[in-house]
Amino acid sequence: CGITGYIGHEDAKEILLKGLEKLEYRGYDSAGIAVMNESDVQVFKEKGRMAKLREVVDEKIIAQVGIGHTRWATHGVPSQENAHPHQSALGRFTLVHNGVIENYTELQQQYLQDVTFLSDTDTEVIVQLIAMFSEEGLETIEAFRKTLTLLKGSYAIAMLDQATPDTIFVAKNKSPLLLGVGEGFHVVASDAMAMLHVTDSFIELMDQEIVIVKNDQHTIQTLAGATVTRQPYQAAFDASDIEKGTYPHYMLKEIDEQPAVMRKIIQAYQNEQGDLTIDDDIIEALRAADRLYIIASGTSYHAGLVGKQLIEKMAEIPVEVHLGSEFAYNPPLLSERPLFIFISQSGETADSRAVLVKLKEWNYPSLTITNVPGSTLSREADYTLLLHAGPEIAVASTKAYTAQLAVLSIISYVVAQNKQIHHRFDLVQELGIVATAMEALCDAKEEFEKITIEFLATTRNCFFIGRGLDYFVCLEGALKLKEISYIQAEGFAGGELKHGTIALIEEGTPVIAIDTQRNVSGNIRGNVKEVAARGANTCLIAMEGNHNSEDRYVLPEVHEWLTPFISVLPLQLIAYYASLHRGCDIDKPRNLAKSVTVE
Ligand code: G6P
Repeated sequence: CGITGYIGHEDAKEILLKGLEKLEYRGYDSAGIAVMNESDVQVFKEKGRMAKLREVVDEKIIAQVGIGHTRWATHGVPSQENAHPHQSALGRFTLVHNGVIENYTELQQQYLQDVTFLSDTDTEVIVQLIAMFSEEGLETIEAFRKTLTLLKGSYAIAMLDQATPDTIFVAKNKSPLLLGVGEGFHVVASDAMAMLHVTDSFIELMDQEIVIVKNDQHTIQTLAGATVTRQPYQAAFDASDIEKGTYPHYMLKEIDEQPAVMRKIIQAYQNEQGDLTIDDDIIEALRAADRLYIIASGTSYHAGLVGKQLIEKMAEIPVEVHLGSEFAYNPPLLSERPLFIFISQSGETADSRAVLVKLKEWNYPSLTITNVPGSTLSREADYTLLLHAGPEIAVASTKAYTAQLAVLSIISYVVAQNKQIHHRFDLVQELGIVATAMEALCDAKEEFEKITIEFLATTRNCFFIGRGLDYFVCLEGALKLKEISYIQAEGFAGGELKHGTIALIEEGTPVIAIDTQRNVSGNIRGNVKEVAARGANTCLIAMEGNHNSEDRYVLPEVHEWLTPFISVLPLQLIAYYASLHRGCDIDKPRNLAKSVTVE
């Protein structure tokens, strides 16, 4: 889901469409644009992919102002009616919105009983309210402001008004939105990547801000009316980072980038002497805490589960790992001196942000580990550590996960050293070994394609089992497979299967087992036998040293604490090939969004 906007002297529709295509990776189920020439506004919208929208947009249309949107359904099914832009009853106002308006039913009942709604969205309430206040005599900016003050929830909004064809009205609360600036033009985008083809100069917008955007000037105001000035920053990444190059899919490119990302992270966290280091104040904050609380969602949550093991083993600080969506509304009993660590590829996940907003009220310190500098979670936390993974475009996260593990291992190692806990290993060297092992696995793609065909060609379900660190990797492997191939998959602790779930094992059920942990190697092999005895089609992926001749694949050896960095690669590749052979949309799986900015 995302927003684009343009006002300048070029062909608006092309800039908007290109921008929306750059946002496709975030996930969406319908898309639309509106362009305005003098007071003539034309809206094009379609359910489905951007290519379908392109087909319906009138090529000949000339306009230098417009707004665009990709929608990921929250209120109302994916359909053409529910796609944005939405218009007020008489068509004067046209608006796109990301976010969720929690009180839209109340607003509809209180103010808009006589209006016929054309969609089932919460968004339409916003545009109808603005139209109503405008008809009552308010200037557009005041009608806009009054409406915003009534909204409860999250929004990033861009709006056109037929009566002011030289302006885009913009507002933001909780949902991400940036203003891009250039010579004689402005753009609006949920994400800098969407507009890098026109400018790399962006201004961050804060919650509850309004912007009046014209081609050669903009005015930022708070909701209360105070004018704000803020300097632009240069977006740091290179537009070529977000090209697929010769790869058929972003996901494959990003899997292959993992060894390079490891090396980049090592460099980024090394000081001049070559030692790993993080800022002193972050070390102090970590040492001052009596317990760390990791908050995350999805793949980042799975990285957090591995992170807990690394931090507890190396740095000897107790860690709890929580889902943002659960913690926010059902927090556990906290320790006396907690430090919160937010793990988020995008830095925008609304479920995690809801927790951060609460923490700030409670005055607890926070650290964000993210791939996106300047993202909401990074801006709002006390400290940030970056992943240095480069833009991740495929919805299914791969290189961000291993980058998260790397940064978590560095934190653990640096704090251990600072606490004079001596482990007999050199993390720089061990991460180097990890990078080389990853390369070997990337070179063995064909092998994983064969495994996929052998075990997953026709199945409707699949189990991943492991113990200790392998268990957490199994959770991630199952999530990857579900996300992109739609095969129902479960990651399970090897020993727990027999307490219920083994009932699901039938003749031919694929069970993929990971065996990298020396102390439980015998146990997981016992669990594999249990399921094989009940008909399962078992595939053992073991690490060198633990392996025997029956194993389907042998992973190169890495340090026992760092095995998740490499055991996850085969599972990423298996998910990729399962999706490929089933003809699924690998980079843009159904129903999913890359960064979920709604709770
Ligand atoms: C979405 C994505 C997942 C991702 C999760 C957390 O659901 O589809 O791939 O793991 O959000 O995202 P974050 O950006 O916070 O890591």
